[in-house]
Amino acid sequence: MIEASFSLLDHDGRRVGPETYRGRWMLVFFGFTHCKVVCPRNLAKLSAMLDGLGPAADDIVPLYITVDPERDTPERMRTWLGEHYPRFTGLTGTREEIDAARRAFRVFAQRRPETTPGDYDVPHTAIAYLLDRDGRFRDHFPETRSEAEIREGIAGLLASDAGHAGPPA
Ligand code: NI
Repeated sequence: MIEASFSLLDHDGRRVGPETYRGRWMLVFFGFTHCKVVCPRNLAKLSAMLDGLGPAADDIVPLYITVDPERDTPERMRTWLGEHYPRFTGLTGTREEIDAARRAFRVFAQRRPETTPGDYDVPHTAIAYLLDRDGRFRDHFPETRSEAEIREGIAGLLASDAGHAGPPA
């Protein structure tokens, strides 16, 4: 069972946890900003998927949790996401905080040796997790799922949630 349990810093330097986002849905993806293929591909797909949801996307907080806190400072994440995937809020923390978040979501990530000084890969799980307004795990989307499939899955869950009071205006 996936549990939304984390205490991290968002890319503006604020301490956040699942309670921060209570009342909205969370779409969570783990990765690192130096990722050359997997993160760009998935973050682009998820961003387009959210665009396609229209106003319903306003009920979803897209979160990108780093598995590389040594390089992914709040400033680095804010700049990189702002340039490329502005829908996402980046979350980082100490190595211990990141490892605890990874364990809660059962995410794998393992740093590889450096290729050149300061340059290294961190292969990681490529699954997007969807949590509801109460922070409960509702669905997950492996990267093999198409943008349309993910959008349909999320739209269906949001529709079944209609009538639930949204966040305070
Ligand atoms: Ni990645």
